[in-house]
Amino acid sequence: GLPNREDRPKRGSHAKRLLPMTPAAPRLRVVVLISGSGTNLQALIDAAAAGQPFEICGVISNRPAAPGLARATAAGIPVRVVDHTKFPDRARFDDALGDAIAAFLPGLVVLAGFMRILSDALVNRFAGRMLNIHPSLLPRFQGLHTHRRALEAGTAEHGASVHFVTTELDGGPVIAQARVPVQADDDEATLAARVLAREHELLPRVVSWFAQERLAMHGDQVWLDGAPLRHPV
Ligand code: GRF
Repeated sequence: GLPNREDRPKRGSHAKRLLPMTPAAPRLRVVVLISGSGTNLQALIDAAAAGQPFEICGVISNRPAAPGLARATAAGIPVRVVDHTKFPDRARFDDALGDAIAAFLPGLVVLAGFMRILSDALVNRFAGRMLNIHPSLLPRFQGLHTHRRALEAGTAEHGASVHFVTTELDGGPVIAQARVPVQADDDEATLAARVLAREHELLPRVVSWFAQERLAMHGDQVWLDGAPLRHPV
């Protein structure tokens, strides 16, 4: 019933009734795996802070000294190190890594400069919800040292690709790409810098699509907005 008289707010007190806060829709939980500087991680942290519909709920590195770990800590994000040198074999490392990932209850796993090849068992554990960013226009230049190889090949265009991770190394279906021109006076550093700047725009955009449930992998096909993607965005 009504509070008795003396308990009621004094006339004119206009005590604001706190409106019940409608809980914001829960954002997609994203775990990011790194091995190095973590500038792509930083781009994701900044995008989440700017209101994109995802949150970085955990960061895992296979290298204890990865500078990117400090970026997560500075942003108040829990970090884990699963040091591959501490495991007798790849299978046991991958099991521990998979358990560390799963412990964060992620909706999406992003490999951002993660320099380990994942076993089929681990990939299959997160199939359809694991992305990787690779510094080339896949399927060209799978593997390492992509900028140097692009320069050696004399290619006019280079760039970065975001793809679903499958058991084929750097071979999963490509979702989106960023293209940059190769300039005559480019060296590995200048070309890498030009690509990296575009990576920082590309990766958060694709993660947002996944968070908005616009993006999925069916079989080896990328579907975006309910239709199979004939070629990368
Ligand atoms: C980027 O070039 C990315 O494409 C590749 O590794 C580098 C990661 O850089 N996978 P960072 O650790 O995100 O700065």
